[in-house]
Amino acid sequence: AASEIKTQDIDPTQLVLNRTSKPKPLLKSEDLIFGRNFTDHMLTIEWDKTTGWAKPHIVPYQNLSLDPATCVFHYAFECFEGMKAYKDSAGQIRLFRPDKNMERFNKSAARIALPNFNSTALIDLIAQFTKLESRFIPEERGYSLYLRPTLIGTQKTLGVGPPGSALLFVIASPVGPYYPTGFKAVSLEATDYAVRAWPGGVGDKKLGANYAPCIVPQREAMSRGFQQNLWLFGEEEYVTEVGTMNFFVALVNKQTGQKELITAPLDGTILEGVTRDSVLSLARERLEPEGWEVVERKYTMRELDEAASEGRLIEAFGAGTAAIVSPVRAISWRGKLVSCGLKEHEETGEVTMKMKNWIEARQYGDDKHEWSYVC
Ligand code: COI
Repeated sequence: AASEIKTQDIDPTQLVLNRTSKPKPLLKSEDLIFGRNFTDHMLTIEWDKTTGWAKPHIVPYQNLSLDPATCVFHYAFECFEGMKAYKDSAGQIRLFRPDKNMERFNKSAARIALPNFNSTALIDLIAQFTKLESRFIPEERGYSLYLRPTLIGTQKTLGVGPPGSALLFVIASPVGPYYPTGFKAVSLEATDYAVRAWPGGVGDKKLGANYAPCIVPQREAMSRGFQQNLWLFGEEEYVTEVGTMNFFVALVNKQTGQKELITAPLDGTILEGVTRDSVLSLARERLEPEGWEVVERKYTMRELDEAASEGRLIEAFGAGTAAIVSPVRAISWRGKLVSCGLKEHEETGEVTMKMKNWIEARQYGDDKHEWSYVC
């Protein structure tokens, strides 16, 4: 036992802070473009397989310097998270469900042989980092600080194997409402020629490698006038996700006449969205008493088409951290346009709108709830 070496976990008490001497000017809120501008600092923590996690550092926002042989560039040893910090009416900084992001971050890391860490310790550090950058968090409703925790393998070798070193960093970008002019319902192209995720694959993990291959199909859809792909799977044409978001449909069950809010189950092909989980719990808490049923099950494009043609499709929306919810107008499928329940002049359905308001109320701390973590 004397020879047993215990590697060090992340230790927030060891934080080294190196403040910038050149604070950036703040942009006007209306000039913010998603993910384009970053705050003054970044949080970095190095990991080495023999010693574990080194002291965390907050340093001025800066370039990384990496050897061209670094494994992240060759074999995609990269995973990330997307989460937001909000300023509440009392000026306090709040993170939304950071424990869910950390849980998923650890699962993503483990799947690509990157190190795990103590979630509580990283939340503590992210909270300290966020507080330091609080002047960048706009106070208006709809605005927030988008946080991007990222973990990369940094071993310098072309040999394919588990990275012996890694770098965890967190950067932050002030962001505005996804739709600055209010909700805009989007149109989708049901995509069958390209597959986002498959059984036994890694579609349920937040790996950078899952995102790059989706851009060409998205460009294809765009060229035909559709903003996003509706990702289908298999001969059955199961509906899985939309763009980079989870997908929900509200419809009336053909057999029972029951109103249902449906989303695909977490079967390994669906990203475990924090917003997805929040929509499901709020729906169970507040829609079920109103007579809805909340269902996680597989459903097909044919079912949606049939519901639409029989007037049973009530509404459809995407759910993700960036936009919270994104209403859907129509889906192009097999040469026809499946209409998703909105009237021509409407940009959102009722359930979609309620979800946005309910989730925002918890994010901004108006609805006091354990999901909101005060930094
Ligand atoms: C989402 O929040 O919907 C995303 O997937 C974010 C994206 C920028 C990766």
